[in-house]
Amino acid sequence: MNPADLVVADCNQILTCQGALPKRKDALQDVGLIERGWIASYKGQVIFAGDEKGFRKEVQPETDCVIIDGKGLTGLPGFIDPHTHLPFAGSREQEFLLRLKGYTYQQLAQKGMGIQTTVKATREASGEQLHSLCLPRLDRMLLYGTTTVEAKSGYGLNLQDELKQLKTLHHLDEIHPVDIIPTFMGAHEIPEEYKNNKNEYIELLINKIIPEVRRENLAEFFDVFCEEGVFSVDETRKLIKAAKKAGFKIKIHADEFSPLGGTELAVEEAAVSADHLINITDKGVQKLAESQTAAILLPAVSFFLMLEKRAPARKLIEQGAVVALATDFNPGSSMTESMLFVLQLAVYTLKMGLEEAINACTANAAYALDRHESVGSLEKGKKMDLILCEAPNYPSIVYHLGINPIKHVIKNGKLVVKDGKRI
Ligand code: NIG
Ligand code: FE
Repeated sequence: MNPADLVVADCNQILTCQGALPKRKDALQDVGLIERGWIASYKGQVIFAGDEKGFRKEVQPETDCVIIDGKGLTGLPGFIDPHTHLPFAGSREQEFLLRLKGYTYQQLAQKGMGIQTTVKATREASGEQLHSLCLPRLDRMLLYGTTTVEAKSGYGLNLQDELKQLKTLHHLDEIHPVDIIPTFMGAHEIPEEYKNNKNEYIELLINKIIPEVRRENLAEFFDVFCEEGVFSVDETRKLIKAAKKAGFKIKIHADEFSPLGGTELAVEEAAVSADHLINITDKGVQKLAESQTAAILLPAVSFFLMLEKRAPARKLIEQGAVVALATDFNPGSSMTESMLFVLQLAVYTLKMGLEEAINACTANAAYALDRHESVGSLEKGKKMDLILCEAPNYPSIVYHLGINPIKHVIKNGKLVVKDGKRI
């Protein structure tokens, strides 16, 4: 008998999302469905997921064990959001209004709005202010089911303000239940003061900022915006080589607005993920499908920017790519913290199957962050990160729109959202 300090008894359904990782093609159909499921954890780790009979045989709840009634609830692993720009100041409603009048995201960026607007606001904010701005965002993430989040710097674009963003992420990780995985993205844009001297900024990144971020051990990943008018494929390659040498794992904002070939570069450089892919070429799809690099799709961006074009999710899945989903939470191209919304958009706008999309928000999203050993599925030994939805069955989570069905969230074996409220 195994001791348990938390038990969720008799859920309508539990999805464990277990199975070999990463999940490709048909493996994406398997969500590990348990009808009338019981799940238990001890000291933050899952010790059992199965039916009542198995539970009675294997699990011995401790005397002060927390017991949650799962009747009427559907449980699944906490969402993993593997791509966000969480630590920013300011907001961009003005830009949104201009977009409603017909300006495109790139036209506004060329006018000096876009990322530069947020860089200005973020540079002006103190570390404490940034911290206070991020707290309610993290709370909202939790309320909408996210238990692990990747977060990028990239609105400082100088040593001091990039460090400020990354240090804020570390402080937040210490005090907030959501696990935060930091990415250094000093190559998000060319700062205003280097607009006519891009090479000098690239040299500054390579010779000063990358080594310093590494020395202070402030980020696990390095990311570049490989895009027309931002960093070319060759510049991205040069930056990546330096970042790898310093010890970073790699991610690339690839083929978002133009088919530059960031995807092919991601594969060549064995990046952990290639993200966006709205304008990926057929060759890019094929290369990515044959690789270990995850394809992180961000359907909220096409939706938010009202773009006709979307990442070719079906093609990617059918050819065997490792597809994951993320919010891209940021003030310019995706102002949402909600992975629930992203899950729904993936089904309704990318034509992903329900099971494919759930695996892409959990198991494969953990793989896209190199965290699949510890989170993303509800299996013995993994973290007890569990969402409990007030839903009769799992299709209901995507079928019933415009509401938040998430009633309880358990992080590391502790109840952190109860009856829809943060505790
Ligand atoms: O992932 N594409 C580059 N970066 C963000 C947008 C950032 C912003 O507009 O502030 C993105 O879409
Ligand atoms: Fe992004």
